[in-house]
Amino acid sequence: MKNDEPDLAIVHANQLVTIDSKFGVPRIGEKMGELAIILDGAVAVKDDKIIFVGTTEDLMSKFTYDQIINKIDATNKLVTPGFIDPHTHIIFDGSRESELSMKLAGKTYLEILEAGGGILKTVRETRRASLEKLVENGKKILDRMMNYGTTTVETKSGYGLSLDSEIKSLKAANILNKDHPLDVVSTFLGAHAIPPEYKGRTDDYVNLIISEMIPKIASEGLAEFCDVFCEEGIFSTEQTQKIINAAKRYGLKPQIHIDEIADTNGALLAAKLKAVQAGHLLKSNDEGLRAMAKAGVIATLLPGTPFCLMLKDYAPARKMIEFGIPVTLATDLNPNCWTESIQMIIVLACYNMKLSPAEALTAATINAACALQRQDQVGSIEVGKKADLVMFNAPNYQFLAYQFGINLVSTVIKNGKIVVQN
Ligand code: NIG
Ligand code: FE
Repeated sequence: MKNDEPDLAIVHANQLVTIDSKFGVPRIGEKMGELAIILDGAVAVKDDKIIFVGTTEDLMSKFTYDQIINKIDATNKLVTPGFIDPHTHIIFDGSRESELSMKLAGKTYLEILEAGGGILKTVRETRRASLEKLVENGKKILDRMMNYGTTTVETKSGYGLSLDSEIKSLKAANILNKDHPLDVVSTFLGAHAIPPEYKGRTDDYVNLIISEMIPKIASEGLAEFCDVFCEEGIFSTEQTQKIINAAKRYGLKPQIHIDEIADTNGALLAAKLKAVQAGHLLKSNDEGLRAMAKAGVIATLLPGTPFCLMLKDYAPARKMIEFGIPVTLATDLNPNCWTESIQMIIVLACYNMKLSPAEALTAATINAACALQRQDQVGSIEVGKKADLVMFNAPNYQFLAYQFGINLVSTVIKNGKIVVQN
C-alpha cells in the first residue's frame, strides 16, 4: 500500500453533507442554509485526519480501491460532520426528576431555586460526590452523546460553588477529555448561583471568584473558557462584567448565559465583553442583538431549556439570522434539561424556533465549532480536518428534523476510529 493510501473510507453516501468552508466560517444569514452536499459521496481517512472528500467515483480513480481495508458502505445513508455540543453542564451528581411536578403545578424556575431546589439541590449533591463519581457520571453521559452523534462537547463546572468543589468539577472534565474518545472543552462557571453560605452577600462571593477561584483555575490550566449566569436575582450585569474582565486577564475566554428569564440587557453586555458565545437569549432586545451581530458574538440557542421549563416563547432565532448573528445550537444538558441528543435539539429548533433543517445542521456543526474556537479542526468534512464523522439511517438531511424520538445514528467515527456501530 502506498503511503498516502487511506486506512478507512466511507463510500456511496446518498448525501455527504460537507459544510464546506467556502460558504463562510461561521455561516451567517442565508449562508446558514448552504450544506455543500455531495451525492454518492465518499470520504477517506488516514490516521485521525480526512485526506479526501468527493464522489465515490473520484475516490476510486484516486486510490487503489481494493486495497482500502476498512470500507463502509453508506448506500441510502446520510453522512455529516460529527455534531458539536458547545454548551452543556454534565459535571454533577444526583438528578431532579421530582421538579417536574412542581413545574406542572406552575412553579417557575426561580421559585424552585429560591426554595432551595434547582441548581442548589444539585450543588448539595455535587459537593458530596467524589471526583471518581463525577467522572463516572460524566462518562455515562459522554457515551450516550457519542451514541447520538456528538463528537466534541463543551462542559462547565458550576455545581461546586466553592474553590475545592469547582476544582474537583473541572478536574473531572479534564479527566474525561483525556480518557474518553470525545473531545471535552472545559469552562469555569463558578458564577452559576449564589452558594447558600453567601446568601445575601453576592458581592463577597464575586470577590471570592475573582481573587481566588479564577487565579487558581487559570494557573492550573483547568479551564479554557469562563462563563457567568447573568440573570435577574442571580449575577447582575455589573458583577458579570467584573468576573469576565478578571477571567480575561487570566487568559480565560469569555462566554455568558444571558436574558433567559428577564431582559437584563445581556445581549448588549455580550457584545461589549466580546464574548465568544452567549447562551439562551430568550428575552434579548433588538439593540442588543444588533450589537451582538456587529461584534460577531455567536448566539448559542438552547431550545431544550424552554421546552423543559414549559415556556411559550423560544429565542427569536429567525430575527437573529436576519440580523446576521451566527447561530449555534446546544443541548444545555443539565439536571433541569437532561438530553444527550443533538438530534432532539434539531427537532426542537425546527419546530419551535422555525430554523430550516439545513440551518439547524449548520448550527450544530460548523457554527458550534466556532463557538468553541475549534473551526480549524472540526465542524465540516474537509481535507486536513479531524475525521469526526457520523452516518445516519436516513436518506437525506431533512430526515434529522422529520423522524424524531429515535436515534438515527448508524455509525460514529471519532479521530478516524469507529466508536459507535448501531
Ligand atoms: O443554562 N440557567 C442556568 N444554568 C443552566 C441550568 C442549570 C440547572 O438548572 O441546573 C442552564 O439552563
Ligand atoms: Fe447552560
